Amino acid sequence: QKDGYRYFMEKEIYEQSLVVGETLMGRIKDNSIILDELSSLDLAHIDAIKICACGTSYHAALSACYMFERLAKIRCNVEIASEFRYKEPLLDTKTLFIVISQSGETADTLEALKMAKQSGMRTLAICNVDNSSIVRTADMTILTRAGIEKGVASTKAFATQVITLWLLTLYVGEHKKSMDALTLQSEIAALLRVPLILKVSETTHEKIRRLSKRYLHGHGFFFIGRDIFYPLALEGALKLKEISYLHAEGYPAGEMKHGPIALADSELFTIALMPKNLLYDKMKSNVEELSARDSTLLVISPEPFELADDFIKTKPHTHMMGEFFEMMLITQLLALEISIRLGNDVDMPRNLAKSVTVE
Ligand code: F6R
Repeated sequence: QKDGYRYFMEKEIYEQSLVVGETLMGRIKDNSIILDELSSLDLAHIDAIKICACGTSYHAALSACYMFERLAKIRCNVEIASEFRYKEPLLDTKTLFIVISQSGETADTLEALKMAKQSGMRTLAICNVDNSSIVRTADMTILTRAGIEKGVASTKAFATQVITLWLLTLYVGEHKKSMDALTLQSEIAALLRVPLILKVSETTHEKIRRLSKRYLHGHGFFFIGRDIFYPLALEGALKLKEISYLHAEGYPAGEMKHGPIALADSELFTIALMPKNLLYDKMKSNVEELSARDSTLLVISPEPFELADDFIKTKPHTHMMGEFFEMMLITQLLALEISIRLGNDVDMPRNLAKSVTVE
């Protein structure tokens, strides 16, 4: 069943190109986004978006928030479902309520969805399991087409969630006329390039495999990024801690100087996501500060960085989401290879379950 891969997680990482292609199938026609699932949604009455989710799905939600505001010019706010439920949130029927869930059974996400529904909001589920509790509860559903995900650490589900949310962003921008035709066209072109970007290069995988042996000890990891690369940093750190049991945090690079940089020394590993298409110089100076404090630096970027202890070169991309997906792949492979070297059970990490149906 593992088709020659060592673990399901590895197989699922390699499957991402295919399942993202499937998630995109039938969604683009004549430079327009097709989401028939939303035919009952009157976007003229929607002026904001709220998203609730947990774990990796929450990171997909955070990524979407950057896209919704930047591209579709619609206000977006994201909350962890278990926080949202108990804070007595103020809800507004002009806000579209979205939940994201791979399993469709996460208790806190389901309860958050019920609360939103009871308040009279329109609700949309982005989910990977048809007929799940979340799908049955939401007014509308867009199914991601990741297929069954066996590895406890989510990989291909995350990729299809981000792709679906990107499609949704473009749909909202198009229907609310907040995005011009030229932007829509270039976004669609970038979207269609993702399946190719997600094909794993054996050379890169081999490089990560070799590199991983230097990152087994030490007292922790900081994954840093800015803008939409910040949720990707959170996701990279989550993947690593779930399957390697090493301490890892994701941080917005600009926040390091407000406290966390106190931890920097050669035993602290910084994984820096340095895309060329977004805030490169800002990232550079954040990374320089960490290097000056002796942190061991692994830079992931299309641009060589002289202070890096290790460097993984990404391909040149003209769109930041191209860089996003390539870096996503690299951080997943890094977590996988570190976990394998440590002798852990990659697919069944300790203390974790695939679906969290209890609060
Ligand atoms: C991380 C992971 C979890 C889930 C979270 C939400 O790799 O798998 O953090 O993302 O438990 O699960 P779903 O998406 O099923 O609601």
